[in-house]
Amino acid sequence: MTRNRPTITDPDAIKEMEGSLSNSSSPHFNQILEARVSRRDTLRGGLGLAATTIFAGAGLSACGGDSNGGANAATPGLSFNSIAGSSADSVSIPDGYRMQVLIPWGTPFTGSFPAYAGDGSNTAAEQAQQIGANHDGMTFFPLPERSESATRGLLVINHEYSNPTLFAGDGRATDMNGAPTDADEVRKDINAHGVSVVEIAQGTDRNWGVIQGGFNRRITAATPMSLSGPAAGSEFMVTAYDNSGMTTRGTVNNCGRGFTPWGTYLACEENIQGYFITTEANPPRDKARYGLTDTGFGYLWSNVAGDPSEVNGEFARFDTTPSGPDAASDYRNEASTFGWLVEIDPFNPAATPVKRTAMGRFRHEGAEPGRIVDGRPIAFYMGDDARGEYMYKFVTAEAWDPAQPNTNMLDNGTLYVARLDADGSGEWLPLDYDSNPALASDFVSQADVLVNTRTAADVLGATPMDRPEWSTTDPSTGEIYFTLTNNTNRGPDQTDAANPRGPNTHGHVIRLAENDDNPAATGFVWDIFVFGSNANADPSFNISGLTLDNEFGSPDGLWFDKRGVLWIQTDNGAPLDSDTNDQMLAVVPAQLNGDRTVNPDTQASLKRFFVGPVGCEVTGVEMTPDYRTMFVNIQHPGGNWPDGGSARPRSATVIISREDDGEIAL
Ligand code: FEO
Ligand code: CA
Ligand code: CA
Repeated sequence: MTRNRPTITDPDAIKEMEGSLSNSSSPHFNQILEARVSRRDTLRGGLGLAATTIFAGAGLSACGGDSNGGANAATPGLSFNSIAGSSADSVSIPDGYRMQVLIPWGTPFTGSFPAYAGDGSNTAAEQAQQIGANHDGMTFFPLPERSESATRGLLVINHEYSNPTLFAGDGRATDMNGAPTDADEVRKDINAHGVSVVEIAQGTDRNWGVIQGGFNRRITAATPMSLSGPAAGSEFMVTAYDNSGMTTRGTVNNCGRGFTPWGTYLACEENIQGYFITTEANPPRDKARYGLTDTGFGYLWSNVAGDPSEVNGEFARFDTTPSGPDAASDYRNEASTFGWLVEIDPFNPAATPVKRTAMGRFRHEGAEPGRIVDGRPIAFYMGDDARGEYMYKFVTAEAWDPAQPNTNMLDNGTLYVARLDADGSGEWLPLDYDSNPALASDFVSQADVLVNTRTAADVLGATPMDRPEWSTTDPSTGEIYFTLTNNTNRGPDQTDAANPRGPNTHGHVIRLAENDDNPAATGFVWDIFVFGSNANADPSFNISGLTLDNEFGSPDGLWFDKRGVLWIQTDNGAPLDSDTNDQMLAVVPAQLNGDRTVNPDTQASLKRFFVGPVGCEVTGVEMTPDYRTMFVNIQHPGGNWPDGGSARPRSATVIISREDDGEIAL
């Protein structure tokens, strides 16, 4: 038996090795960058009214100086100074702030609370009682439920993937091909994935700690899950595990997150193609279009199928190559039970997580709701993070009634995909089999449309984007912001108005406003809020005029707090002039002059707040309702953080507060 470091690495690094821009038949506008820039210059050069009109047309009190007294109009500016970039193996925050590291990978928090073993020797069963690997999106739910408590709550955290540090020695045991050979190591890997629900509370010394209470729960890549919505129970979901197609096991690659106003959490399944393999010469479209290969990311969990300890195909299911006479006898459809949004009730540890198929199947990033208004439907905005993939929204069929919340609202509604036009307008195209004749010839049912969401979006002519990641909603204007993290495959002749740089090494943030401020609108307007860049890049690339104080690349995590502060987190692979580690920046869009974009005139308002340790990605951010405690996740640190010395690195949550206990950032 050999021990090798497996090839598993940051999924974003793997994405860099993936194929071409898009499988789509969608048109590219070939709109050159100058057209968009000159339009922006025109707006800045005295036609500010025109910019206002664009968003006024959406029924928004969008401008910072709005006389209607939008919530942000009186918001004071950011009160901290932009911090310098850092390449140190530590966390940097502004003067006057303090930090604490909480719940690093392996922290015991449930069951028998098995102690973390720093040499990777914890067993699979122990990992299932400890914090998972690679923290990502998260939400803070105050306790008691629906209170505004700022000292106690449930932190719900995604664990996106795993890396070789999970295992003792130099990595897991493998065969000559690098595939795993130890069933317990594979189970440990499975148990390091998923979601943690952790009760935490602040002590009198202001430090936070884990409460060993009944809410604490690990959800893993093996936890039983329900399927609901139009694809549940369809022919596409039938497996040997459940011939009825109503259940599956586990969730993987939970990246961004969403939440609902009825107090649940949405774990988003992103790179599922890393976990399921097929050796079919011509895999069906639900596998081909989603990128399944014969190796995935190299996890190859099915390599231990047939181990004497295997229960009910727990490993075999990760190989989707047909092996029996029909779908009910094998796991050819197993991957189709992944790629969804998983709704989790953090307040009910006994509740089975539910995969909501009505919201589409793709490489989900976040799923944040738009502005929630009583008596109106709720729209959830979602990115599909791959080069040339699309932005989506799901609009509930029912209106939101806080007095009688329907906790199955996510089963009924319309899924839309975005087309962005060169004139700054856009259209939401319904992925609805019954009402959209364009889908009739390629699909047999709404379940078919949903399992093959990407293919359906291709048919409708959606706009291929530069890797849509998180979205977030400005609480005062209702505008939706999306990160487009990068696209190094977009060529100079493949640019369009919404993705105007090719190659797009540093990404940008795009902004949408629904027509009439209506979550169910089928039309919207859009503009680009900020372009990532290194500071010394040519102004034709550094369009926002970033400096060493705020240069960034590959925006990923994105979150508006309720005061209107926009937090931008990075997962960067492109060069920056200050050679800084990944970071988090803040800006208050409502306060920006003119068209409220970050541009050479306003760029100083974008300030760097946080820099993470060596090799990490900064992803996931939340605050307590009083804005005095912030939670930020560090994923895949590459040095020895946080334990130092020669310790193996551990993903963890960083808690930030002000030394004077004031509100953060303002
Ligand atoms: Fe998991 Fe798209 O970042
Ligand atoms: Ca992400
Ligand atoms: Ca990422």
